[in-house]
Amino acid sequence: MTVRKNQANLTATERKNFVDAVIEVKRRGVYDEFVTLHRTRFIQDMDPAHIRTGHNTPSFLPWHRQYLIAFERELQKVNWSVSIPYWDWTTARSRTGSPWVADLLGGAGRDGDQQVMDGPFAHSTGDWPITVQVDTHPFLRRTLGGTYPLPSQSDVDAALALPTYDAPPWNENAPGFRNTLEGNQGVWLHNQVHIWVGGQMGQPVSPNDPVFWLHHAFVDKLWADWQRRYPNSGYLPTGNTPDAVDLNETMAPWTGVNGVTPAQVLDHTRYYTYV
Ligand code: CU
Ligand code: CU
Repeated sequence: MTVRKNQANLTATERKNFVDAVIEVKRRGVYDEFVTLHRTRFIQDMDPAHIRTGHNTPSFLPWHRQYLIAFERELQKVNWSVSIPYWDWTTARSRTGSPWVADLLGGAGRDGDQQVMDGPFAHSTGDWPITVQVDTHPFLRRTLGGTYPLPSQSDVDAALALPTYDAPPWNENAPGFRNTLEGNQGVWLHNQVHIWVGGQMGQPVSPNDPVFWLHHAFVDKLWADWQRRYPNSGYLPTGNTPDAVDLNETMAPWTGVNGVTPAQVLDHTRYYTYV
């Protein structure tokens, strides 16, 4: 059984195993396929010609849940004991503490070009060339900070207090839990964390920074917390919304006979648990 832990509680061995597995998935060429998949999804989600499936839409949460499950499987092909840790940014708020340490993700980028210079994902290690990009920088970049701070526990509590999953118009203007947690309503929550990390994390190629997985594991945990709190509030919409993925419609790119629907991933305990 896969157990996802708070990154702050990992042992030194667990940190090393996670980092080594991520680098091996990269070496196999599989990591960059995940980055490409996200970039394609993100760009299509911003294009009015496509039905939104992963961003600014109800399936934001189940789409990223399935995306993390698929990535975690690749990590476990390398080392069965590895799971995706989560970064609770309501408590781990320092620019220099974990996860921004040399034996996990490395720290902030240097002044000027924002290049991350330490840790396993620094360009100088040779293990982490950025090949799927939106600019010409071959190295991982981060700022860790900016105009606005990381979201707080009270920001999270305000989102968790909303008992309705989502509502018309099912996009970035919708009221409800999904859009508030995604960060389009009120405080920016999920979106603000991408901006705070900066560099590739602020772009459609955000999974280039391994913190992407830790951030989205925490967002996914918050959804799981919300699901436990409101057992009678399910995923919405349940049907008949041409502009959004309904409960039993597949989520691109997981379509066809092996397709994945929101309904199939609502119970995360079939795949993993959080401690
Ligand atoms: Cu995304
Ligand atoms: Cu995100």
